[in-house]
Order: sequence, then structure tokens, then C-alpha cells
Amino acid sequence: MADVYKEAFWAAYSYTRTQLARTRMRVLLVSALALYGAALAKPSAVDSYVAKESPIAKAGLLANIGPKGAKAAGAKAGVVIASPSTSDPNYLYTWVRDSSLVFKVIIDQFTSGKDKSLLGRIQDFVAAEKTLQQVSNPSGTVTTGGLGEPKFNIDLTAFTEPWGRPQRDGPALRSTAMIAYANWLRKTSSTANVVKNLWPAIKLDLDYVVANWNSTGFDLWEEVSASSFFTTAVQHRSLREGAALAKALGQNASAYITQADNALCFLQSYWNPTGGYITANTRGGRSGKDANTALASVHTFDPAAGCDAATFQPCSDKALASLKVYVDSFRDIYAINKGIAPNAAVATGRYPEDVYFGGNPWYLTTAVVAEQLYDALIVWKAQESLKVTSISLPFFRQFLSSVTVGTYGCTSSTYKKLTAAIKTFADDTLAIHAKYTPANGGLAEQFDRATGVSPAPLSAVDLTWSYAAALTVFAARDGVSPASWGAKGLKVPKVCKPGPPVPTANMTFNVLATTVPGESIYITGSIDPLQNWSPDNALLLSSANYPTWTITLTVPASTNFEYKYIRKTNGVLTAWESDPNNSVSSPANGTLVVNDTWR
Ligand SMILES: *[C@@H]1O[C@H](CO)[C@@H](O)[C@H](O)[C@H]1NC(C)=O
Ligand SMILES: *[C@@H]1O[C@H](CO)[C@@H](O)[C@H](O)[C@H]1NC(C)=O
Ligand SMILES: *[C@@H]1O[C@H](CO)[C@@H](O)[C@H](O)[C@H]1NC(C)=O
Repeated sequence: MADVYKEAFWAAYSYTRTQLARTRMRVLLVSALALYGAALAKPSAVDSYVAKESPIAKAGLLANIGPKGAKAAGAKAGVVIASPSTSDPNYLYTWVRDSSLVFKVIIDQFTSGKDKSLLGRIQDFVAAEKTLQQVSNPSGTVTTGGLGEPKFNIDLTAFTEPWGRPQRDGPALRSTAMIAYANWLRKTSSTANVVKNLWPAIKLDLDYVVANWNSTGFDLWEEVSASSFFTTAVQHRSLREGAALAKALGQNASAYITQADNALCFLQSYWNPTGGYITANTRGGRSGKDANTALASVHTFDPAAGCDAATFQPCSDKALASLKVYVDSFRDIYAINKGIAPNAAVATGRYPEDVYFGGNPWYLTTAVVAEQLYDALIVWKAQESLKVTSISLPFFRQFLSSVTVGTYGCTSSTYKKLTAAIKTFADDTLAIHAKYTPANGGLAEQFDRATGVSPAPLSAVDLTWSYAAALTVFAARDGVSPASWGAKGLKVPKVCKPGPPVPTANMTFNVLATTVPGESIYITGSIDPLQNWSPDNALLLSSANYPTWTITLTVPASTNFEYKYIRKTNGVLTAWESDPNNSVSSPANGTLVVNDTWR
């Protein structure tokens, strides 16, 4: 072979070999990438659940809204039924809280451009709530406390039976929903339009919050009459964003700003530094560990506020510490959580002492655990770091036992390990939600604490709030965050000031009751001056006009409340009056005399 050919041969040979090697490399690389890509792209069980459940939750939510919702027959336009369940329990009513939370989801979907078809429903909701504001009800009229009424009939008439009233989160949540809509309308229409059509209704609710944030009421579970973290947190938010809207509309914002500062100050008092968690209620004889607090964090999430602890943002040290304490309180009490590692996801309910329907995990309270964590992940990603403080250390140690107090940038292995483990924990929480959801995707209120693998939904079927909570946790998992509401950079006042003085009136209670020596008559009832149904602290009546026993008290004006007389012998409770409770309305001013006979 001539040299020239030899060279050509070798050149060709080596070219071919290189090409072969390259090709082989490429094949290897491509298949490796394909494997890796498949691993990345292969939907996890949670991805599949979210994909399947999202449209079901959306449809389930819309089905519960009148007048056209498939399960909302009889509901007026814009009315959200809590659930189509009409017995055991009967939830075929409309609650201001549930409706407002549901419409906040709808308004966010609409204003973000995700679903333009929702506008008509939003307009119906605004009209329905404007009507409800004016309906006289057992909590009062529009000017005497009626806005604190928690629930109405679905034809927009008052519900007049005994109930845990007032509930003071309703006006706050309703204004938050309407403000979200008003902010969109302001940009797309005109200020004048908002001032005319939305502001009057928003102002009524904000003024109610101003006047009443510093008064007790029933909590979001309608059981405890006290001050409640969720209520104060959402009240603070509504005043803050209400002030911003008022300014934008050329209205007087000063009362909203003043009382927002006062409410923010009071909000700090729910933190229990010894237990390392947020106490849900100031009274009620429970541990105070409650989904109330995670719900508050999620419903006051402001992505611009970072991990601010003053507003208990989802990634704040206090809210994370509290989340761990709350979740852990369900590890030992539900059979379905048995055998799950102490740092792994579990099903959670409202609060560990719950006995309603046997005290079970709820879909919305399990979802909110995941949502708080997804919200936290959104903020950590945006700020490219996360901070571990002495307060949040126990929370983070569940995921990395060696972690210490410090700030970890997003390129550090600590940050990567923690965020990956927290994402897994959140997904595992959703996997539990999925595991106990029946095949048709229907979300009831609760699922059975005792059953094994098969889903056993309990209590009200198709709970609208369960669907809303599913939609928001799914959005948070996708990295979608709600609009900012002004939580950034707030300063907590050094000294807490009370809200505006509550107008008072006097009431004289006379009760005709014969007694034996050593026996006395006392009174207790549903308001602070009547000691909130505490027989121990019940007030002693005077026997000066025996057999009429009497007492005069100063009570909040224009307020409906319930009460009973009780007998004590030498200070020991011997009898309550028979049911039902007495109920009365205090006057707007002056003194009202009530004449009762023991029964
Ligand atoms: C009212 O606010 C003051 C000041 O923060 C606080 O001490 C008090 O407990 C509050 N009471 C209620 C019922 O909110
Ligand atoms: C705005 O409201 C505050 C308190 O509610 C009041 O004192 C003040 O006079 C009002 N300002 C105007 C300009 O109306
Ligand atoms: C209630 O009674 C007290 C004490 O007698 C009195 O000072 C007060 O003015 C009365 N309040 C009303 C609203 O009449």
C-alpha cells in the first residue's frame, strides 16, 4: 500500500473510530438523559392526584353556588351553600366565612386570568352579600352588630335558631374577597365605579371590624367564645388592605390604619413562648393547638413579606414551630397515623380535643399543612435562602437532625436538603389527602380516624370549603402565590392599645325564685359581663327583694345574648335552669329591666 493510501486509511479508520466512540457516547448520553428525564418527568402519585382532583374540586365548588350550581337548588344567585348535606349534619345554609373563603379563590382565579368565565358569579356574590349585610338577624341590624351573624338561609333570609354568635371573622374575610375584586376593577374600570358599587359594602365590613376586633366572639369552629387567632389575623389583614384601598379611592383610611396597628399588637399575644406555638383561643379549656393557626398563616400569606414573624407568615419561625406542634398533636390520637415515623406526614384534624362526629381528620386541615409548607418554599426560593432560628429549630430538625441556627443560602447543601425534605413532607401530606379521597374525588368534611386503607369520608359530603382548600393547596404546590396585601415591613407598636370603646347599656335581671336556707341564685351567659357560661364565675344575685333575686349589669349595647340562672348551695352548683337558654337583646342605651321566673 502506498504511503498516501496508508495515511488515508488510518485517517479514515481513526475518523470512523472517533465517530463510533462519539456515537456510542452520544447513545449512552442520550439514554442516560432519557432515563434521567423520565425519572424527572414521570408524574409522581401526587402529581397524578393533583391533575385528577383539580378539575373535580373546581366543579365541586361551582356545583355548590346558586342559582345554577348542580347541588345548590334553592340557593339564590351568588349564594354558596356550605354543603348539600341536609341531615346529620344539615349544612344547607350559607356561612359568611365559608362563602368569602370560597369566593376569594374564585376571584383570584378570575383576576389572574386563569378563568375568565367566573365574572358573572363574582357579580352575583357581591350582590348576594350586599343583601345579607342588610338582613336583620339575631346578631342585630346592619348598624347594631348584624354583620357578625355567621350563617343565613340560602334564600338570603335570617337564620333565627340558637347558634354560636356573633362570629367576627366573617366581615373581615368578606371584605378581603371584595377588596381583591375591587383592586382588579380599579385597574380595568374606574375608581368611580368601585366607589359607587363596591366601596359601600366593603366599608360596612371594615367599619364593623374597626368597632369590634377588640371584642370576643365565637371562633371559626363555632364552639369557643373568646378571642381567636384566626379571627384577629384576618381582621388585621382586612384593615391593612382596606386602608390601602380607601387611600386609592380617596376615602378616609385613618381609622383602619390605627386599628390595624392595634390589632397587630394584640395578635402577638397569642404566641406561647413556653410551648413554642400559637395558641388558637384565649379561652376554651383546650391545649390551643389548632388548625386555626395554620389556616390563619395561609390566609394571610403575603409573598412580599418574606418570613416576617409579626404577621406569622407561613415561613416565619413562629408559624413553622407552631405547625410542627399542631401536626404532632395528632400523631398518637388517630389510628390511621399509627406506625408513621415521628417526622413523617400524618392526617390532621381541627384540634386534638375535638369530639365532633367522633373527632376526625378533616380534608381542609390536612391540606393546609401542605399549603403552609408550599407557601414557605415559594418564599425561600424567591429570597434564595432560609433562616433557622432557635424558635424554628425543632421544626427544621425533623428534616435534618444536625442543622443548627443560621442562614443558609440556596447553594448550600443544608438549604438543598431542607427544602427537598420539606417538599417531600408537603407532598406526603397531600398523598394522605389523596389516600382517603374516594375514587369519585368527592371531598366531604372529614375522614374516619380509625379506618385503614379504604377512604371513609364522614360528616357533610361535598363540603365547599374542602374543595376551595384543595384548589389553593394545588396552586401553592405549583408555585402560585396570591397578591400582596401590605404585610411587608410592618412594625409592631411597643405598647398595645385597645380598640374603640364599645357602647354599653345597663340591664337589671329580676328572677322570681324560692330558695331554701343556704341556697342562692346566680346568673351566667354568653357574654363577657356574664362570665361566658362559667358556672364557677357566675354572678350572685341579691336577695334584698326575696323571693325576687336581682342584679344590675353593664353590658355591650345592642347585643343579643343568652343566659341562665343557676342555684348554688353554700357555693356549690346544684341546679341549672331547664332548657332552652333565655335570650335577650340589650338596648342601644339606658337600662332595660328583665323579669323572669325560675324554670
Ligand atoms: C383588647 O385589646 C387589648 C390591647 O391589645 C388586649 O389587652 C385585650 O385582651 C383585648 N381584648 C379583646 C377581647 O380582644
Ligand atoms: C378620618 O377619620 C378619623 C377617625 O375615624 C377622623 O378623626 C378624621 O376627622 C377623619 N378625617 C376626615 C378628613 O374626615
Ligand atoms: C349604667 O349604670 C352606671 C352605674 O349606675 C352608670 O354610671 C351608667 O351611666 C349607666 N349606663 C347607661 C348606658 O345608662
